[in-house]
Amino acid sequence: MKLIAKTMAGLEGVLAEELRQLGAQNIEPLTRAVAFEGDKRLLYRANLELRTALRVLLPIRAFQVRSEEGLYKMIREIDWPKYMGVDGALAVDAATHSPYFKHSKYAALKTKDAIVDRFRQEFGRRPNVDLDKPSLRINIHIYNDECTVALDSSGMSLHKRGYRMETLEAPINEVLAAGMVLLTGWQRDCAFVDPMCGSGTILIEAATYAHNMAPQLHRQFFGFKSWKNYEPRLWDEVLAEARDSVRPFEYGLFGYDKDFRALKVAQQNCLAAHLEGRVSVERKAFEKLEPPAQTGLIVMNPPYDERIGNEDIGAFYKMIGDRLKQAFSGYQAWLISSNLEALKQIGLRPSRKLSLFNGALECKFQKYDLYEGSRKEKRQNDES
Ligand SMILES: C[S@@+](CC[C@H](N)C(=O)[O-])C[C@H]1O[C@@H](n2cnc3c(N)ncnc32)[C@H](O)[C@@H]1O
Repeated sequence: MKLIAKTMAGLEGVLAEELRQLGAQNIEPLTRAVAFEGDKRLLYRANLELRTALRVLLPIRAFQVRSEEGLYKMIREIDWPKYMGVDGALAVDAATHSPYFKHSKYAALKTKDAIVDRFRQEFGRRPNVDLDKPSLRINIHIYNDECTVALDSSGMSLHKRGYRMETLEAPINEVLAAGMVLLTGWQRDCAFVDPMCGSGTILIEAATYAHNMAPQLHRQFFGFKSWKNYEPRLWDEVLAEARDSVRPFEYGLFGYDKDFRALKVAQQNCLAAHLEGRVSVERKAFEKLEPPAQTGLIVMNPPYDERIGNEDIGAFYKMIGDRLKQAFSGYQAWLISSNLEALKQIGLRPSRKLSLFNGALECKFQKYDLYEGSRKEKRQNDES
């Protein structure tokens, strides 16, 4: 099968690598997506195990189209009863980048009408619409006059891991958090620290990765489970293998936040993510944080100012840089922020700079190597 995994801008490379590790064939990174080939087992594994995919799609038809009537006609020609029963429920998602289809919602509506009419014609009745958990979610993608119709095997975005019990301000998307952890190139061979963990998303994504725990190990709902060709035995096998692959992690996973509420939410979310006893979450301000291990990887998502008020954001970022230099030598630190001016106040030279989007905010994800003695060297440089 030719398949497409959708993702976020900047994560195509890590997603392609995840697919390579799953054994996918003919992997081709696209824009916010990766095309690949595999069998049904791989489709199930992709949904269960990929950390940086939002959805896994199975394209079933591609054609040229320039009008809504044309779209209706082409969609109605597809043998929909082959894919779902008349008693099922459907949902249509559409994304259009086309002068012929300016409103994606309208393309979705036309598609839904065509499918429903096809069923009416054959059965005298029609399936329902269920936008939340349909038995068949259909994805329409129109670029200029090229339309691809795909079945959404995930059925509901894969960023919904099921552990987010409560949210605070500015939580990061689970897929972005997982992508950041993978982008660091962490080999799971040292402690992991998120010193401003908020509701714990980055910590939880790092923790499931550290334990080799599939991100969807506890999710029940997948689109493919209501497909006509669903093989429950194969799914049970894939799930059992993923359960057996969970392994201990000995270096420690540490989350901190100065906010009491954040701590409660992070702890709750860690429990919901089945990480009890595997992560440590403590209330502590970064200003006073001591390293919990001799070396480690820090990944942090501090306030950016746009989303969380802070009195003097420049001074706040300077404090982050100072603390990293003073207390965390021997660590690697990665920091994501959309506030480029504030980032300059860190006062450390980034050894890598990547571009990512946190929601609509364009961000830099930067790496700082905190060598032993870097503080002394800096002082010497400052004095000379
Ligand atoms: C953008 S949020 C992090 C969101 C988190 N990544 C998530 O997904 O929920 C920034 C966090 O930094 C915390 N914070 C702000 N100043 C801090 C400080 N001086 N020390 C520790 N935590 C701090 C805030 O309480 C907030 O929870």
